[in-house]
Amino acid sequence: MNVTVFGTGYVGLVQAAVLAEAGHRVACIDIDQEKIDRLKQGQIPIFEPGLAPLVKRNHESGNLIFSTSAAEGVAHGDLIFIAVGTPPDEDGSADLRYVLTVARTIAEHMEGKKYIINKSTVPVGTADKVREEVTRTLRERNALNLEFDVISNPEFLKEGSAVADCMKPDRIIIGTSENASEQKMRQLYAPFNRNHDKVIVMDVRSAELAKYAANCMLATKISFMNEMAVIADKVGADIEAVRQGIGSDPRIGYHFIYPGIGYGGSCFPKDVQALKTTATQLGIEPKVLNAVEERNHSQKHYLLDKVVQRYGDDLAGKTFALWGLAFKPNTDDMREAPARVLMEELWRRGARVQAFDPEAMEECQRIYGARPDLQLCGTKESALTNAEALIIATEWQQFKAIDVAAVTSGLNTPVIFDGRNLYDPLQVAESGIEYHCVGRPEMNSGANQ
Ligand code: UDX
Repeated sequence: MNVTVFGTGYVGLVQAAVLAEAGHRVACIDIDQEKIDRLKQGQIPIFEPGLAPLVKRNHESGNLIFSTSAAEGVAHGDLIFIAVGTPPDEDGSADLRYVLTVARTIAEHMEGKKYIINKSTVPVGTADKVREEVTRTLRERNALNLEFDVISNPEFLKEGSAVADCMKPDRIIIGTSENASEQKMRQLYAPFNRNHDKVIVMDVRSAELAKYAANCMLATKISFMNEMAVIADKVGADIEAVRQGIGSDPRIGYHFIYPGIGYGGSCFPKDVQALKTTATQLGIEPKVLNAVEERNHSQKHYLLDKVVQRYGDDLAGKTFALWGLAFKPNTDDMREAPARVLMEELWRRGARVQAFDPEAMEECQRIYGARPDLQLCGTKESALTNAEALIIATEWQQFKAIDVAAVTSGLNTPVIFDGRNLYDPLQVAESGIEYHCVGRPEMNSGANQ
């Protein structure tokens, strides 16, 4: 099928590459000429495992083309995805400017029936706004005879496994009330819908809300566990045991109940905020969502509170090693990353930070620039040199096995603050390292404290 994707950001590019890989002919349109030029040369603007070879292969085969020409894009695809950004407005609601501009562009150039598919995460009611924008533009063109439908088809991909998630979706939500649209979408996704039917068809508003409900439910699970971890710390329980104890109940499940130092990324914080705004605008007090957000905010400060308890509020003259800058492993994304709150709070108290991340160093440099209280280190070991303690903010695979010798010889005193509960507290304590984590009993011997 001929497909066009407007927006070569995270969602658009992954979706386009995966559809091309399945044999569809996909045109990717973006207004950013430089980005398009780079993509044509096989340069991918984001770090995402498996994406670069997929883009390269399909670009070379001709299944994936890149262009800045909206007219070309609209002419190419019967199915047109809108996958442009929806940054939060000042009041926290999603800014639909880019989505509606694309809607207008489609209407300005279309000559036959178009299936317009909303892939961006957008508030309930956006499909109707897109429909109005297209109708208005067609009316201006005296072209109201041209048919179109607006379909909601939310994405559920996770950064770091976006290609795999897109290749093997656990569900494909299609929000439309038109039979023809449902059939087109089923045909489009047929290569990804082989063994059992993953397609769930619903009305467009339910599809839009389903996306927010999914992310907010996941954010709620995490915040709930984070609160349990804080309680566990105070009552002397082990949150790891609690996690296993509750996860074994299939109604709760093991996924997304890992406590830590708060969720970050481009989706959860933004979507919780946007749904809160929608609810508030409708006169509903979003009590659960408020609590989720509040807990997440406190959780990002939780490890720092432990640092302050240990060293006092004035950290001037002290250096801390920080492992992990990205909001989670396998990405270079630092949006809303807990590491940022940690670093900024350490700096505010006068401390220096020696940081290492396997992928996000460039991004960190871009965000914070050169500053005397930040040193980006080439290896995790060099980040430890002469630091007061090690703080772990992201659970990268390469941090998961504790290197007692490196920690002991590198740090001034062997102390770890672990925001991701990577190690067994007893084992760490036995190796002579003072260990602070989230919601697990601290086994530190008095001598270390
Ligand atoms: C999320 C959703 O998972 C995805 O379906 C949606 O399309 C976009 O938003 P993403 O933001 O890429 O994806 O990351 P995800 O792996 O879901 O993690 C989000 C955050 O939650 C991370 O900061 C992670 O560290 C945190 N998290 C996750 C926990 O703190 N505990 C957990 O148990 C799981």
